[in-house]
Amino acid sequence: MAAIGKSVFFCTECGNESPKWFGKCPACGAWNTCREESVATGKMAKAAKPSIDFGMEKTVPVPICDISNVKEQRIVLPYTEMNRVLGGGIVPGSSILLGGEPGIGKSTLLLQIAIQLNDKKILYVSGEESQTQIKMRADRIGIHNEHCFILTETDTQAILNHFKTVKPDIMVIDSIQTLESPYVDSSAGSLTQIRETAAEMNRIAKTYNVPVFLIGHITKDGTIAGPKVLEHIVDTVLQFEGDRHYGFRILRTIKNRFGPSSELGIFEMNADGLREVTNPSEILLSQRDEEVSGIAIAATLEGQRAMLIETQSLVSTAAYGTPQRSATGFDIRRLNMLLAVLEKRAGFRLSSKDVFLNIAGGIRVDDPAIDMAVIAAVLSSNADIPIPSHYTFAAEVGLSGEIRAVNRIETRIAEADKLGFEKIFISKYNHKGLNTKNLRIKVVPVASVYDLATELFG
Ligand code: TYD
Ligand code: MG
Repeated sequence: MAAIGKSVFFCTECGNESPKWFGKCPACGAWNTCREESVATGKMAKAAKPSIDFGMEKTVPVPICDISNVKEQRIVLPYTEMNRVLGGGIVPGSSILLGGEPGIGKSTLLLQIAIQLNDKKILYVSGEESQTQIKMRADRIGIHNEHCFILTETDTQAILNHFKTVKPDIMVIDSIQTLESPYVDSSAGSLTQIRETAAEMNRIAKTYNVPVFLIGHITKDGTIAGPKVLEHIVDTVLQFEGDRHYGFRILRTIKNRFGPSSELGIFEMNADGLREVTNPSEILLSQRDEEVSGIAIAATLEGQRAMLIETQSLVSTAAYGTPQRSATGFDIRRLNMLLAVLEKRAGFRLSSKDVFLNIAGGIRVDDPAIDMAVIAAVLSSNADIPIPSHYTFAAEVGLSGEIRAVNRIETRIAEADKLGFEKIFISKYNHKGLNTKNLRIKVVPVASVYDLATELFG
């Protein structure tokens, strides 16, 4: 019997489903995010059984005190950077979404884990590459795990059947956009399919207590709806990002039910796979022999970890009428705000200058503590006076030009001290009650951008 075609409308932002078209999503309020999809039920669909058959027993409610507290046994990976973002390893039965732009290295990262994680059985399901292609890549990286099984399949029922025979300790799905559930009629990659297949994979993880990694593609502007919709279904969302022209890749925790959600791991893409960068500061600080103007080092914090990052600025007289402002790795609106503060509160005439700002290494920084380094770099380039390379900065800048305190200043100072910096500029509000006795580094409290300029350039 032919299925009767029916359309529903989805919001590509939040996945809200509606029987009629909408301009503004009634659930999340986003505009122009409506997408029509056909949801004709598949030939295998039955009213009472909308999804793959698990043969599960009926569930029973249990009093909370009777539930045994077994300490969660995490699967610890051979990568400290990966363990860090997962909050100390993989929780059994969890579903982890790894999102990122195509070509950033998602398949490489998970394949690498699959073939290097000794004594764990892994089922790597790929709907994107053939077994030979995967083998070629694996050979390049180096295979250390004989119990890694490669399956090229996109049908979720077939995947479940293979899963039951292989009985892996971890399953990887590359990618969620290629999966097709026989119980839904839309094509692979459609919202209906992505929601259904992700929910099915999540159920496999929960039913068999086996962690499942799902790879999800997102485009530069984040328009492909998949991963956004998926965020609600999975336990953990990781994002793999970086500038393709640089080797560095950042793995960020976006959501984590089992650990902190602002962690970050750093990798470097090499010819033989991804290498962990356990000491990012040494790499993110560019090596230079002579001191150049326009460079200032910020003591930033990403998740639990302190990192020293170089900010580079170039200030020059505008060649054309309207001065240009450009920022890489830093919010351009924040740069404009900081320039306005310098103009209004410290009397620097920058409105007729071109200002370029760059965060070294092609990484993006959200930590507000980078503000003072940005200001210092701009002032240094403007005056063409280099800042000594053993100086570092950690403070936020407010609209009235005041230098504001930032969180966990001790961690930042300790990292700068460890790396041999000799002077760190911080807010005077952070300086109160700070114990600087055991430090080699000199801590300089600053109250305003004006004070900073005087402190640096007299
Ligand atoms: P890939 O993992 O296929 O990206 P994704 O799954 O996110 O689409 O990685 C693609 C890029 O990584 C590709 O341009 C080649 C590069 N690469 C290396 O530089 N070294 C390697 O060892 C591997 C396996 C890939
Ligand atoms: Mg891939």
